[in-house]
Amino acid sequence: MKIDSVTLQNYRNAETVNFEPGEGVNVIYGANAQGKTNILEAMWLFTGCKSFRGARDNELIKFGSDTAKLSLAFTDSARSHYAELTLGAQKQAFLNGVALESQAEFIGRFYAVIFSPAHLALIQDGPVFRRRFLDTALCELRPRYAEYLARYRRTLVQRNALLKDLYLSAELYDVLDNYDDVLARCAAAVVYERIGYTRLLSEYCKEIYSGISEDTESFSVVYSRDAAGDRKPPEELYREEAERLKAARKNDVLFKTTTVGPHRDDLDIRLNGVSARSYGSQGQQRSCALVLKLGESEIIKRATGETPVMLLDDVMSELDEKRQDYVLNHIDNRQVFLTCCDPSQVLRLCKGRSFLVRNGTLKPEEP
Ligand SMILES: Nc1ncnc2c1ncn2[C@@H]1O[C@H](COP(=O)(O)OP(=O)(O)O)[C@@H](O)[C@H]1O
Ligand SMILES: [Mg+2]
Repeated sequence: MKIDSVTLQNYRNAETVNFEPGEGVNVIYGANAQGKTNILEAMWLFTGCKSFRGARDNELIKFGSDTAKLSLAFTDSARSHYAELTLGAQKQAFLNGVALESQAEFIGRFYAVIFSPAHLALIQDGPVFRRRFLDTALCELRPRYAEYLARYRRTLVQRNALLKDLYLSAELYDVLDNYDDVLARCAAAVVYERIGYTRLLSEYCKEIYSGISEDTESFSVVYSRDAAGDRKPPEELYREEAERLKAARKNDVLFKTTTVGPHRDDLDIRLNGVSARSYGSQGQQRSCALVLKLGESEIIKRATGETPVMLLDDVMSELDEKRQDYVLNHIDNRQVFLTCCDPSQVLRLCKGRSFLVRNGTLKPEEP
C-alpha cells in the first residue's frame, strides 16, 4: 500500500497542503505545534476510522472555515485509487469518483497503522484502551465483528436500564432472560474473535520483541478469558457466557449493572512472565506498545495481502539509537511517515525524503 499524493484544504491549521511522498521513509519535521500530527491524522481518516486523537469532525475544520476537503491518491497491490473526503455540514466520501454511504466505507480499502506516544496508554492505563485496540483492529479486518460488537453494546445498555427498573414488576424478569440470551450470543462471537486475534498477535509480537531486545526479553499477550489449549468454538463460549450471566445475576440486580462480559475483559501483557504494566521500565513499556502496533500491522499484512502504511508520530525521540535502528530496519519495504523535530538523526539511519512543516504549510526538501 502506497500513498501517491495527499491534498488538504482547510484541514486543522493547514490552508493548503499538497505533496507527493516517496516509497520508503518520509520524514515530516518541524517545531512544535506546526501541524505535523495534523497531516498524519488527515491521512489516517482514509482508513475509515475516526481521528486517532478522538477529535470530532468539526474540530478538524480550520477555524473560520465551514468545510475541509481532503484527498488521497494511493496504490494497493492491484491498482491505483483516488479517495476524497469532505468534512462539514454535509459530510461526503468518494472512492474513485463513486459516492460512499459513509467514511466508514473506506474500511478495507486503505490500510494504515498509527503509533504515537499516546499509545503508551495501551500498557500503562486501564483496560479500556486495550479493549479499544482489539475492537478497532478487528472492526477493520472483520465487518461482521463490528455488527456483533454494536449489537452487544446496544443490548448491554438495554439490560442495564432494565436492571434499574426490575423492582417495578416481576414480569420484567422474563425480559431479562431474553436479554441475557442475546447478550450471551453476541458476547460469544466477540470473545471468540478477540481470542483468535490475540493469539495471532502474541505469536507475531513475540518474534518482533525478541528482535528489538536482541533476545534478552520475552514478550507475551493473552486475552483475559483465554484458557490455554485449543480455541473454544463459539457454541461453547455461548454456554459459558450464559452461565456467567446467570451466576452474576444476583450481583447485577443488586448493583443495577452488568458485571461480567467482554466489556470487562482485558489483555494481559507480560515481559519475562511478569506484568509489563506493573514491573516494566519506561523503555520496556514503550517497546511493548510499539511491538503491539508492529504486530497489528503484521496481521493486516497477512490477512489482506496489503502492507499497511506506517504512521509514526513523534516516537523516534523516545527510543534509544539501537531500537530506532531496529524499527527503521523492521519497517523496511513499506511506506512510512514519521514525524519529528529534528530529521538529521532519522535520516542518518535510513534513506528517505523529508518535508518541513511550518505553520500549517509543508515544503519538500531537496534530496
Ligand atoms: N481546527 C483547527 N483550525 C486551526 N488550527 C488548528 C485546528 N486544530 C488544531 N489547530 C492548530 O494546529 C496546531 C497543532 O498541530 P499539530 O499537528 O498537533 O502540531 P505538531 O506539529 O506539534 O504535531 C496548533 O497550533 C493548533 O492550534
Ligand atoms: Mg505532533
